[in-house]
Amino acid sequence: MSAGFSTRAIHGATIPDVRQIPASVPIYQTATWGFETSEEYAAVLRGERQGHSYGRGYGNPTVEAFETVMSDLEGTQAAYAFSSGMSAIHAVCLVLAGAGDRIVTSRELYGGTYALFTEVLPGLGVTVEEVDPHDLEAVRAALPGAAMFYVETIANPLCTVADLGALAALCQEVGVPAAIDSTFASPWLCNPADLGYEFVLHSVTKYIGGHHDVVSGIVCCSAERRTQLRQVALGVGGAMQPFDAWLALRGVQTLEVRLERQCRTAMALSEFLVDQPAVAAVHYVGLPAHPHHEHASKLFRPGFFGGMFSFELAGGVDAAASWCEALSTGWIGASLGGTHTLVTHPASTTHRQVAPAERAAHGLTDGLIRVSPGLENAEDLLDDFAAATKRVFG
Ligand SMILES: Cc1ncc(COP(=O)(O)O)c(C=O)c1O
Repeated sequence: MSAGFSTRAIHGATIPDVRQIPASVPIYQTATWGFETSEEYAAVLRGERQGHSYGRGYGNPTVEAFETVMSDLEGTQAAYAFSSGMSAIHAVCLVLAGAGDRIVTSRELYGGTYALFTEVLPGLGVTVEEVDPHDLEAVRAALPGAAMFYVETIANPLCTVADLGALAALCQEVGVPAAIDSTFASPWLCNPADLGYEFVLHSVTKYIGGHHDVVSGIVCCSAERRTQLRQVALGVGGAMQPFDAWLALRGVQTLEVRLERQCRTAMALSEFLVDQPAVAAVHYVGLPAHPHHEHASKLFRPGFFGGMFSFELAGGVDAAASWCEALSTGWIGASLGGTHTLVTHPASTTHRQVAPAERAAHGLTDGLIRVSPGLENAEDLLDDFAAATKRVFG
């Protein structure tokens, strides 16, 4: 007797024997997998047999395909992917630090990371010490006994670039594992693992995804560290999901052509802004006058300095807020590194409630605007920036 309708509907599909390689890695959108025997299932769980079991980070072919590309592009043995950049950063912290430990971090940080370090980790008994990453003596003094050193390749919000090679060497001297958030640089601009960073992190949400349609993160590292990160993800959740991996795989294929254009546009816009009387400062390491231009030239792909820059408008909070609102091609919005040009003015948005003096201590002056050029034509963005400047300053 044939099985009932629902049984046939559930079990009737045959997985075709595909002979040709699909150009797009298939999305294995499944939370669970079937086994012939319990012994086989147990062997996969123990890692004695290759295979897939469950969707909370135990492994998924689409996610693993993305991890393979990323470890290859960063030049590391392995990679483990997460559901966001923050879950990736959090997992690295949990691998390296526990109650009673101290981590040393650059004080130039993305706000979300700053919140993790100052509001979440202390609750777990981890002490966080901030240092100026440009003061190598201060870093050297802080490192002994630390559980981790943490820095960003191109740092928020002033798009500074520290001497990353010297910092990694200091960590190696005293045996402190170094982790770097390379989101702003992406693996196209530089590979921090070559300098000695044990953990290279990315918010995949940004340049790697590239289209403002996926939130994900990844850590590129050794195979041994990957096992530790996976263990954290199995325990606390936060592993990457298959559809996100598919979007990230699609995004990363065009990373080079996108970022090349974004670097050129960032340079063109920075050069335009430098000449504007209403602009007090432009923070872009691509400008030869920038104090970090020389060592950024050695760290990055020759002739390229990243897509991100910030600048300071004269005229205080209101003028800067009005300038952002006067843009039409550029949008006011969170995130960066994607198709659309996005600007943020921390003093009137994310840091509105923070006292001006405290804001300034973190480089967030009243007129500071961060720009992430998208993939629009540079001429249109130059016109947009010129029109906004004219509208606010006449
Ligand atoms: C430099 C940097 N690191 C990490 C993150 C966090 O990434 P996600 O938003 O994917 O969690 C961000 C987000 O803006 C970021 O800019």
